[in-house]
Amino acid sequence: MSASQELEKAATNYALEAVRLDKQGSKGMAMTMYQKAIESLLKLVHLYPEYSLNKVYIQRAIAYQERIKMLQGAVPPAPVEMRAEVENITWGKKTEGDKSSYEELILTEKPNIKWEQVVGLENAKRAIKEAIVYPVQRPDLFPLGWPRGILLFGPPGCGKTLLAAAVATEIDANFVSVDAASIMSKWLGEAEQNVAKLFNSVRKSANEGKPAIVFIDELDSLMGKHSNEVGGEIRVRNQFLKEMDGIIDKGKKLHVYVIGATNKPWDLDWAFIRRFQKRILVPLPDHHSRLLMFKLYTADLQLASNVDLHELARLSEGFSGSDIRDVCQAAHLKLIGEFFESGQAANKLAKPRPLEMTDFRQILEERKPSVSLDMLTLYNRWFEAFKAL
Ligand SMILES: Nc1ncnc2c1ncn2[C@@H]1O[C@H](COP(=O)(O)OP(=O)(O)OP(=O)(O)O)[C@@H](O)[C@H]1O
Ligand SMILES: [Mg+2]
Repeated sequence: MSASQELEKAATNYALEAVRLDKQGSKGMAMTMYQKAIESLLKLVHLYPEYSLNKVYIQRAIAYQERIKMLQGAVPPAPVEMRAEVENITWGKKTEGDKSSYEELILTEKPNIKWEQVVGLENAKRAIKEAIVYPVQRPDLFPLGWPRGILLFGPPGCGKTLLAAAVATEIDANFVSVDAASIMSKWLGEAEQNVAKLFNSVRKSANEGKPAIVFIDELDSLMGKHSNEVGGEIRVRNQFLKEMDGIIDKGKKLHVYVIGATNKPWDLDWAFIRRFQKRILVPLPDHHSRLLMFKLYTADLQLASNVDLHELARLSEGFSGSDIRDVCQAAHLKLIGEFFESGQAANKLAKPRPLEMTDFRQILEERKPSVSLDMLTLYNRWFEAFKAL
């Protein structure tokens, strides 16, 4: 297969997996996969600027981006549904007979996120390696057992779901990804039984020798504060606690792990918190990490010599990783959009101009960091009170 065909196939696979996860309600992981699809498409366009399908690829990338924004709750749903027609996909819509069985929750396409692609977060990476990766590789070196629950918490867009995706890529394990919010909303009356079913299947898989990792995103939704299904969430929550206890049981050497993620750790109560023996803050990137992120997210773009990544890192103080990625992508898409609008793209030999510093500045000026200082103080306070590295 040629490199372009490979990229195209990768983009399609990521997109298909994203749509599947999206339908099943695994929002965070779906967004990660849409993102991978976008990256493959943009790389394709970059490497083969004269390719006739580029306009379609860009349209697709934009459609995925809008879907991501919608999943983040940033834009109202209506226009996105229209976009979906371009693709002939029914995004996240639940169809008749859809059920979230265990098999459907398993990640079939590994996200292909390597540790190195998760910028910074050295503490979090080390903790995850110690808690999951090493015990899976050499259980004999852990006579005292190992932690089974890891809680990742911190401001939105800083890499919690990304870390989970890296774990899925790096360990040969069954990886089950489910959003607690969808457990509550989609499984409705069956949520309690489904949680039990999920853990039963996971234990079975582990007993048969394949480690299993359950990733529960938006863990705070299990706390029921935002649900109006009276009483139901308490039973689901208790079922979940019970299942966690079954896994933590020290006598067993079962390789079942639960990674929970939340950006509202203060919504969790102590019964929950203490079952996650490792509690790890995933913070906003510092200057150095922001610089590395700008490097990462512009690696496939053509930059003019006046683009100063250090300066961009300085200007983006308070931005999350997701904000920085958005800035790079927005700058690039704007440029490509202009290229097509101007009609230059019709000439197969014409190439878009490189990105200038002003392109980035413009985008940065239109944006504010998505996390406030007050929020940061809250995370740090919570971390001081409950940290367990
Ligand atoms: N540390 C990082 N290194 C590289 N990219 C990052 C990092 N953090 C965030 N990003 C980019 O932002 C995107 C969103 O990050 P992610 O989904 O992991 O955030 P999150 O912490 O799970 O947020 P939320 O609390 O909203 O679920 C990633 O797919 C990635 O493109
Ligand atoms: Mg997430």
